[in-house]
Amino acid sequence: MTDLSYDHKQHLKTLLPEPAINEIDHWIKKYPPERKRPPIIAALKVVQEHNGNYLTEELMQAVGEYLDVPQIAVFEVATFYSMFHLDKVGKHVISVCNNISCSLRGADNVIEQLQNRLNIKLGETTDDGLYTIKTVECMAACGGAPMLEVDKVYFENLTEEKVDQILSDIAALEIAKQKKPADLSAEVKK
Ligand code: FES
Repeated sequence: MTDLSYDHKQHLKTLLPEPAINEIDHWIKKYPPERKRPPIIAALKVVQEHNGNYLTEELMQAVGEYLDVPQIAVFEVATFYSMFHLDKVGKHVISVCNNISCSLRGADNVIEQLQNRLNIKLGETTDDGLYTIKTVECMAACGGAPMLEVDKVYFENLTEEKVDQILSDIAALEIAKQKKPADLSAEVKK
């Protein structure tokens, strides 16, 4: 017998902090109440951000319950868009396009360079949990092929030097984040 007292919205509320729920509600309100599917993408983005950059089956199920849409609709979105990760990934996911234009203009070299520099294979994450490399389908930046996306930023017309620079910049940012404020102010005074 169906438990009529079951609150379908409650599950997600037990998994996410209140600000995240508020953010999802904000997106839900942008659509007429009968249009329940459009906020799926935004909801999954919020959930992923609050779960260390990846989605679990439980979270996807809870999103479906919260939005009152079939589970399959949520899974379809989560598996269609490359920005969603269904496994644990590194803090910086480097997505290299290997569709036709990027392939013709050297995507394989970019992938090989990343693998060598980070010492991991495609789909793997570095031991320090900082980087994952993956390939993605066309990201609509074919005019700038070959390209990659990392931390929501597109880098186009990649060369060996550019890829090196991207990795160096991310590494420098990570080092800066690890430094205590006192360390940083000492450096500024130099
Ligand atoms: S083929 Fe790479 S962005 Fe379109």
